[in-house]
Amino acid sequence: MGFNADPRFFEAMGSVQATPQTLEGLENWRDLAPLQQPTYTDPAELETVLEELSSVPPLIFAGEADLLTSRIAEAAAGRAFILAGGDCAETFVDAQADKIRRRIQTVLQMAAVLTYAGSVPVVKMGRMAGQFAKPRSSDVETRDGVTLPSYRGDIVNGHEFTPEARRHDPHRLLQAYHVSSSTLNLIRAFTQGGFADLRRVHDWNTGFLGSNPNYHRYEQIAREIDRALKFMAACGADFDALNSVEFFAAHEALLLEYERALTRIDSRTGNPYAVSGHFLWIGERTRDLDGAHVDFLSRVHNPIGVKLGPTITKDEVLRLVDRLDPERTPGRLSFITRMGAGKIREKLPALLAEVGHELPQVTWVCDPMHGNTITAGNGFKTRRFEDVVEEVAGFFDAHAEAGTVPGGLHIELTGDDVTEVLGGGAEIDEEGLRRRYETLVDPRLNHDQSLEMAFQVAELLTKASRA
Ligand code: PEP
Ligand code: CO
Repeated sequence: MGFNADPRFFEAMGSVQATPQTLEGLENWRDLAPLQQPTYTDPAELETVLEELSSVPPLIFAGEADLLTSRIAEAAAGRAFILAGGDCAETFVDAQADKIRRRIQTVLQMAAVLTYAGSVPVVKMGRMAGQFAKPRSSDVETRDGVTLPSYRGDIVNGHEFTPEARRHDPHRLLQAYHVSSSTLNLIRAFTQGGFADLRRVHDWNTGFLGSNPNYHRYEQIAREIDRALKFMAACGADFDALNSVEFFAAHEALLLEYERALTRIDSRTGNPYAVSGHFLWIGERTRDLDGAHVDFLSRVHNPIGVKLGPTITKDEVLRLVDRLDPERTPGRLSFITRMGAGKIREKLPALLAEVGHELPQVTWVCDPMHGNTITAGNGFKTRRFEDVVEEVAGFFDAHAEAGTVPGGLHIELTGDDVTEVLGGGAEIDEEGLRRRYETLVDPRLNHDQSLEMAFQVAELLTKASRA
């Protein structure tokens, strides 16, 4: 499979159907006043960067995106479960081998527990290798009487509170591409070799349990997994064949100049694909039906997601489906609900009752993070571990009630021992947040909290799969 960005390629080929309309449509978003975009001061500088981005090699291939669509379709049907995890905002300086390895390790450890509990394959995705752009509620930030542009993620500007760092710099688009490329290279290396060996992943989980205060609660699942592995070994299972795993890259498709420049035509089919990542989603703030983001993503053939907050209506959902998935292709569209622990039990069952059965091709995923952000007494932006778990429980209950399929989880996490989310086995309290608070945007579950979450979701998944 390959790509060719030049439309003349298709004229020469004759048989491939990249119509001028398809290519033109890729520019439509420009007329739709895209929200949350950077403002660059030098158009020539931007043009040079975009030209370069238009000719760099793709980060992912169309065939991989199609494979992911088929995997997500399995989740829509209840025959697989999605686990997407990673930073709220990746940063350039943190794109280091050890940090990336620990994040992948955390997702693999969670996936092992969920695979066992759900008795279905877990489709693994990272909010990684491209999750650099952040929507912000305000364009500016004021500190001690000084007002500067808000930090919009490393792909746009720097976090440091100086006019130089906060300038929107188009060269950061190129830097984001290169950092994504090296991150993805490492992801591919880690997940294709012995690192992902199931027995090794289980050993890590056993180690985690040894040090967790809630050990007794999770012990039984761990012991059952142990017995299952021994059973497989006794039956002569080929563990070597199991030591590579599929791992896909996902990010919010926020910066449309970046996504457009990294869109290529698949030479097999003539269809456009965003080659900046396998799975792209539209955020809660940019999912306007007539907006630029919905228009642009309607035209690429990757599997895509849309975040749905508590104000979403039945009509909006159906119109989003008409715009983004007119052919009702299983796996093409995921709805990632992020209602908040206090609202999900009121909002989601009603929505699913109204539209769930009309949309069997859609995959419902739970983001239990973004509806549960609070400010601690000492000013830290945080979340409560118990709210995060409660939203997941509400998600499973809502689907059980409506007879629809809970298809996956979307989590902000890190493999490091940070203190950004309150609670969990180590009972991080408000004072504890000071110890190691590193995120530049939203608070992430640390390594131990992520695994605790996996064990608690395992209980819910076991119940759901036996219902
Ligand atoms: C995010 O996923 O980091 C995010 C900003 O989410 P939402 O669009 O749901 O607020
Ligand atoms: Co976030």
